Amino acid sequence: MIELSATANGRVALVTGAARGIGLGIAAWLVCEGWQVVLADLDRERGSRVAKALGEGAWFVTMDVADEEQVTLGVAQVLGQFGRLDALVCNAAVADPHNITLEALDLAYWNRVLAVNLSGPMLLAKHCAPYLRAHGGAIVNLTSTRAGQSEPDTEAYAASKGGLLALTHALAISLGPEIRVNAVSPGWIDARDPSVRRAEPLSDVDHAQHPAGRVGTVEDVAAIVAWLLSRDAGFITGQEFVVDGGMTKKMVYA
Ligand SMILES: NC(=O)c1ccc[n+]([C@@H]2O[C@H](COP(=O)([O-])OP(=O)(O)OC[C@H]3O[C@@H](n4cnc5c(N)ncnc54)[C@H](O)[C@@H]3O)[C@@H](O)[C@H]2O)c1
Repeated sequence: MIELSATANGRVALVTGAARGIGLGIAAWLVCEGWQVVLADLDRERGSRVAKALGEGAWFVTMDVADEEQVTLGVAQVLGQFGRLDALVCNAAVADPHNITLEALDLAYWNRVLAVNLSGPMLLAKHCAPYLRAHGGAIVNLTSTRAGQSEPDTEAYAASKGGLLALTHALAISLGPEIRVNAVSPGWIDARDPSVRRAEPLSDVDHAQHPAGRVGTVEDVAAIVAWLLSRDAGFITGQEFVVDGGMTKKMVYA
């Protein structure tokens, strides 16, 4: 965990799915950079607890990103509390890539994955756009290297992330020049709680197969998300940034 000793920068970020994992890592990183961060998640108990632990720079709202009413309400709460919004990070997802076999795939499951992973970011962008536009804001969508390659039995997740990649460039064109929109596609990130990581460490094989020599961390992702939200990235929009330790550049023929 990064040290939290920020001077406020006056900017407000909304990070979805921030009660744990990569979303929490992004929220912590932004708090550290002086952002006022609103953590949004389905998990109210954990989300409130981690926001409290992050200190005054963090605030929690309960939200199911697939529910337009809850998105509208959550965004209104952010504006009511802070009066502005500068950044949106769409990270919340049904993040387990594996469904059951295609023949057994339940339509309700497929629809839920698409609703959370793809419709959610669209709803967030739709309801945040007026406020982001006012301050030259930015959006980052968390996609996946699985948008471009697959293991068996991952249809719903892969389709949702491929859709999100397309949504990213569509939004960049619709919302520019005021709002920049980019995608970060992680590969294997060990987003488990520190206690689980200690109890069940990854193997040497897990790490060594990566050209970078290790599995990724939530900080690897948080660093590039923070940079994409910064004014240093002002000429970058509609792009995908792969954070996978080089795995998608490696030939895997047996
Ligand atoms: N961990 C990885 O290796 C990896 C790799 C590629 C992409 N990603 C992507 O990164 C993002 C974060 O992944 P993670 O591993 O930290 O996931 P995670 O499962 O650890 O955390 C996801 C968070 O999203 C929340 N969430 C789920 N559905 C929600 C909804 N409908 N509304 C609001 N909140 C909801 C959960 O409560 C949880 O706090 C996801 O978009 C995932 O697809 C992760």
